[in-house]
Formats: sequence, C-alpha cells, structure tokens
Amino acid sequence: MNVKPDFSKHGNKAETAPAFLSVWDMHAYYGESYIVQGITFNVHEGEILALLGRNGAGKTTTLRGIARLASPQVQKGEIWLDHQPLHKMASHEAATAGLGLVPEDRRIIPGLTVEENLQLAQIAPPIGWSLERLYELFPRLGERRKQEGVTLSGGEQQMLAIARALARDLKVLLLDEPYEGLAPVIVDEIEKTLRLIKSQGMTTIIVEQNAIRALQLADRAVILDTGSIVFDGTAEEVLENDNLRAEYLAI
Ligand SMILES: Nc1ncnc2c1ncn2[C@@H]1O[C@H](COP(=O)(O)OP(=O)(O)OP(=O)(O)O)[C@@H](O)[C@H]1O
Ligand SMILES: [Mg+2]
Repeated sequence: MNVKPDFSKHGNKAETAPAFLSVWDMHAYYGESYIVQGITFNVHEGEILALLGRNGAGKTTTLRGIARLASPQVQKGEIWLDHQPLHKMASHEAATAGLGLVPEDRRIIPGLTVEENLQLAQIAPPIGWSLERLYELFPRLGERRKQEGVTLSGGEQQMLAIARALARDLKVLLLDEPYEGLAPVIVDEIEKTLRLIKSQGMTTIIVEQNAIRALQLADRAVILDTGSIVFDGTAEEVLENDNLRAEYLAI
C-alpha cells in the first residue's frame, strides 16, 4: 500500500494528523499561465470544505487539478486521497480511486433519460449508491426517470449531476458552483440533500460564488486569492470576520 507523506515536516499549514484528502504544494498551469501557485490544504473524512475566492482566484483550476484532468497541467506537488497518490494518476484512475467531480456545466448526456444517465455511471465498478437509494435521496429524479436528462430544469439537472457522481463509489465529492443560476428554494433543496449525504459519511469540497450559503453548510473554509491560499480555518471564523469577507469574497 502507498503511504501518505508526512507533510508536517515541510513546515506548512497541513496538520500532522493524516487527512483524508491532502493537497500538498500543488502548482497548476494553463500553458504558460501560472495559475495555482503552490497550495497546501487538508480535508478530513466526513467534512464539508468550502473553497472560496473571487472570480478567477483559481477555484475551478484547483478542483480540476485534484481530479487530474488534462488541463490544467499540474507541474508540482502531491495529492493524496485515503493513502492513494492521486498525483500519479490519470483522471479515470482518480475517478476509480474515489474522486467525483461535478463540473459547473453539469454535463448531462443528451439523448439519454435520467435513468440512463445514472446507469451509464454504473457501467463499470466501483459502483456506489443504487438507483433506488438515489431516487430516495432525489424523489424528483425518481418521478422523472424516463425523461431525457437535458430537458430537466436547472435544479433537477444539478440533482442529476450529483446523483450521477454518487452512483460511483465515491470517497470525495467535488462540487463546482452547484447553486449557480438556481432559485433560492431549489438551493434549499440541494443544500438539504448535501447535508443528508454528509450525515451518511461523505467528504465534500464545495466551490460557490454564493459564499454565505456555502459557509453555512461547510465545516471549514479555504480562501484562494490569485492562486494562493490566504485563509484556512473554520467556516464560522469567516462568517464572523467582516474584513476577511470584504477583502477576499466581496461580501
Ligand atoms: N483553459 C484555460 N486556459 C487559460 N487560462 C485559464 C483557463 N481556464 C481558466 N484560466 C484562467 O485561470 C484563472 C483561474 O481560473 P478559475 O476558473 O480557476 O477561477 P475560479 O476561481 O474558478 O473563478 P470563477 O469564480 O469565475 O469560476 C483565471 O485567470 C482564468 O482566466
Ligand atoms: Mg470557477
């Protein structure tokens, strides 16, 4: 088995206790553009981490780097998920290792029903939640199981995108702006579901422009500014710190 490095000896903010997901000194580029400039943070098992920052701060790039997508290019650093070295993996291997990225555009597959979108995710192991359990979590998807996925409302498509991630055997759920473009009542519904998923042990990173909503959901927060971490602490600390929010979140 692979053994996680002891990041503490590098004198950074990561703690000595082994984290479930550890990002150590990750640097990411788009071609010549140096975007994520050496970030280190931990996510503990079962917690929700809000990854926040202004437009262009590098949040999506960080999630894509963790998910090992071809772009950005991660040139340096290590990413460990439950003792597995993600930094040595291609994106499909990272997915098999338990990483589930729900991208901002949701990527519902045209021509397939709700149920077919979910079944496609379960075509190969490791298989996660059963269809039955997913429909219990998202009753709206159960009601619309025969409807073409791309004809769902925005909120329902977001639910399908999350359900599709859970249809795989996940260790960490990465959500890029899950509330974007959704009415507050739908955001309430999705937030409730994310709490339910957490109560069943899921570890989640949520990136959100709606920082207040994300902070109310999250245990901890990491704030990025131009590709560097400027805050790593509890969600409450951010909610209570007006200066921090004004400076880095513009709220
Ligand atoms: N494919 C790309 N090629 C070149 N530069 C990119 C690419 N994608 C993003 N960038 C740049 O990288 C920087 C970080 O972008 P990123 O999408 O990670 O920001 P973000 O924090 O997710 O912002 P937002 O809140 O607007 O989604 C930005 O300056 C952006 O213009
Ligand atoms: Mg983004």
